[in-house]
Amino acid sequence: MKRSGSGDEVAARCELNPAVFRRRLMKWYGERARALPWRETSDPYRIWVAEVMLQQTRVAAVVEYYNDFLRRFPTLVSLALASELEVLVAWSGLGYYNRARLLHRAAQFIMTERRSSLPSSSAELRTLPGIGEYTAAAIASIAFGESVAVVDGNVERVVLRLTGRASENTAAARGLVRAQAQALLPQARGTVSRREVQSGGGAGPSHSDNPAGDHNQAMMELGATVCLPRAPRCSECPVRELCRTRGEHPTTARAPQRSRPVACLLDLRKRGPATEVLLERRPACASVMPAMVELPPLPLDAVEGLEPALRIRHTITNTNYYVQVFSPRRLVSASSGSLASTGKRTGVAAQALRSAIPADSRALYWTRTTQLAGLPLTGLTRKILQRLKLMEKHRAALPE
Ligand code: ADE
Repeated sequence: MKRSGSGDEVAARCELNPAVFRRRLMKWYGERARALPWRETSDPYRIWVAEVMLQQTRVAAVVEYYNDFLRRFPTLVSLALASELEVLVAWSGLGYYNRARLLHRAAQFIMTERRSSLPSSSAELRTLPGIGEYTAAAIASIAFGESVAVVDGNVERVVLRLTGRASENTAAARGLVRAQAQALLPQARGTVSRREVQSGGGAGPSHSDNPAGDHNQAMMELGATVCLPRAPRCSECPVRELCRTRGEHPTTARAPQRSRPVACLLDLRKRGPATEVLLERRPACASVMPAMVELPPLPLDAVEGLEPALRIRHTITNTNYYVQVFSPRRLVSASSGSLASTGKRTGVAAQALRSAIPADSRALYWTRTTQLAGLPLTGLTRKILQRLKLMEKHRAALPE
């Protein structure tokens, strides 16, 4: 990693006393850190899984998935030996499914080429599929004690506010933030492979014997819970006296939220005692969510004037999808408000809806609702089926 300036030079430039900063930060972290499941383990595999899940995903969403995923794949070898489908099922609803595929591929590589042992340096970790600079730094410091700064969006904001620098989207400005974050980090490198982190005492983990890993987690925690983008809680900040700006710092404007209306079909049928639902498998070559399974999307012009059985909002990054779910059994004309679901007209309308599905018929298939939990459903489809009580909230374990 290229660094601009030595640690001392940079620390001098930002007029921060790193030792004082670290002491205050770590005292606060020991008392206030959230007790998160990946902070209670020293297993590099578990830390790796957490850091991949945390890429572009909120902590609260990851907490919902993390323990289930590790129950299903408790070791790197169990993940490597699973099929990609099994991994996608366990990841279903968490989004950015390519992360799951790359995690799986990396586990297979580590099992066959590295005797199931994860690399311990950030430089080596970066050579694995799905691990970029930030994730490599997080795993190397938290699991192995390497003194390398983790700079995510939260840490960048903390550093910019501390130093009073304006945020600039250039490689040089990012390099400077990284150097400043590095200057604040404890420099001694210790390799910590089997460290015990006790979670007694305060809300979060107590000080462990991993200064760099704890420091990085504390910086992320400060950015996520105190040094907030729009309304920083400076009165609760352990390093406010060392801060140049105390919240008086312009933040980059949030990307505008976009709205997109979409529609999909919920077609159900009875087969003996079983209820079946019509699903569509996305093409394996799709650029978004390839091979995942969803309720068949419908073109908006095919549903004009019809009242949906369910409306739901689903947000993915900065897009709000306003989703209308149409069920041929419950077709209502929006203009008359009358149920079209009686007699011959229903049959005609339902047929029209089914034939409006643009997908190739080979991509469509009926599945029993009891089997839904074993499918790699998209997050939106999972949400709709759960909302309509057609599947369990929690993912059922796949057959071994
Ligand atoms: N975001 C990325 N890594 C994290 C971690 N270890 N703890 C909290 N938030 C994070």
